[in-house]
Amino acid sequence: MEISVIGAGYVGLTTAACLAELGHEVRCTDNDAEKLNMLRAGHMPFFEPHLDEIVKRNFASGKLQYVASEEAILQSQAIFICVGTPPLANGEADLSAIEAVARNIAHLAHGYRLIIEKSTVPVQTARRLKQHLGTYLSNGLDYDVVSNPEFLREGSAIGDFFHPDRIVVGADSRRAIALMKQIYQPIVEKSFRCPVHSKCKNDATVSFLVTDTNSAELVKHASNSFLAMKISFINMVSDLCEAAGADIEKVAEGIGLDRRIGPAFLQPGIGFGGFCFPKDLQAFVRIAETFGCDFALLKDVENINRARVQRFVAKVKKELWILRGKKIAVWGLAFKPNTDDIRFAPSLEIIRSLIESGARIRAYDPQAIERAKKEIPEIVACDSLYQAAEGAEAILLLTEWGEFMEADWARLATLVDRPLVFDGRNCLNPQEVTAKGFQYFGVGTASMAAVEFSQTAAD
Ligand code: UGA
Repeated sequence: MEISVIGAGYVGLTTAACLAELGHEVRCTDNDAEKLNMLRAGHMPFFEPHLDEIVKRNFASGKLQYVASEEAILQSQAIFICVGTPPLANGEADLSAIEAVARNIAHLAHGYRLIIEKSTVPVQTARRLKQHLGTYLSNGLDYDVVSNPEFLREGSAIGDFFHPDRIVVGADSRRAIALMKQIYQPIVEKSFRCPVHSKCKNDATVSFLVTDTNSAELVKHASNSFLAMKISFINMVSDLCEAAGADIEKVAEGIGLDRRIGPAFLQPGIGFGGFCFPKDLQAFVRIAETFGCDFALLKDVENINRARVQRFVAKVKKELWILRGKKIAVWGLAFKPNTDDIRFAPSLEIIRSLIESGARIRAYDPQAIERAKKEIPEIVACDSLYQAAEGAEAILLLTEWGEFMEADWARLATLVDRPLVFDGRNCLNPQEVTAKGFQYFGVGTASMAAVEFSQTAAD
């Protein structure tokens, strides 16, 4: 099918490239002409594993083109809207970019258009879009508006696109539903070649859920809020574990073994970040308020998350006492591994707070160091985890990149000034670290008591 994608950001570019990989003819546009030129020249605007190869392959074959917005609107029958919906000062989503795209479509397009809302938007946005298009149309445009929320995670977006748990389509016309089925048919029928794993064994069923547009929009906000709630819940339980002398890893395992709960999103730490959970949670609270519902539960989820950073900083201060002039190594800046995204990353808040107390930060991240250095110029940007550790009084692990789990602790012991490690993601092996003389502080473990217990259990 001929498909246009408006917005070449994280969601738009991933969607455009993956739809081209499925065999569709895709035109991708963005109001940032510089970004389109960059893509034409073969440069990626952000890092996402496997995306560059898919983008380049499909651009080279002509399946993916970068075009002006007019061409995108005029030439394709299906138009995905993937523009940003950033938060306003009051927490509501700013829908002005979506409104502008809709007006443009109404002015330019003629014949039938399937307009697919992919950006995360408040409930009833599709309904408003439909009315809005009707108000501005000028060329005999016939159209359907569909809500098709995206559930991609940064860092694993390609795998998520090709192997989703579900595809949700909110639509109120048969024609729209049939076209959406056609677009996603290769994924639902598993008839595509997986670009990530050459011998892909993922044959889990993909649910294709058709709803009304309001419900589809709510699925997105409710899903992100529910996941955020799981994280804040486990973080509170981890505080209790620390206070009462229990081990959160075991508690989370025990909870997650209940199939009704499941093990995912029960990893405690320094709190959730990124451009989705914090903003979607706030927006959802505002949306609920608009409809007269006080979603107090989600306000608590937000508050618990906000307190994670200070709790972690307090732990560091408790051990180091005075921070002024002390070198602290920070491993990991991105809000999660396998991305260079630092938006709303808890690591940056932690660093800012430590710098305020006079600490000197030596930071390393496999992908996000340049972005972070621009954001916080005071940090000393290091080329490796070992360089960051040189002369440090403590190592703070803030993002669970794979390479940190492979670190050589014997070598690190020779580099640091004081062998102290704060594992903000519980991803290190405490036995291995303590065996090399480091003092280890995880999240939600009654410090050494838990380490000693697992050592005994292992013996
Ligand atoms: C999230 C959702 O998982 C996607 O389904 C959704 O499409 C996306 O938002 C979006 O709305 O665009 P993402 O923000 O990329 O995806 O990352 P997640 O893997 O969900 O992680 C979010 C944050 O939660 C990270 O800071 C991560 O470190 C934290 N987290 C996650 C925990 O602290 N504990 C966990 O157990 C899981």
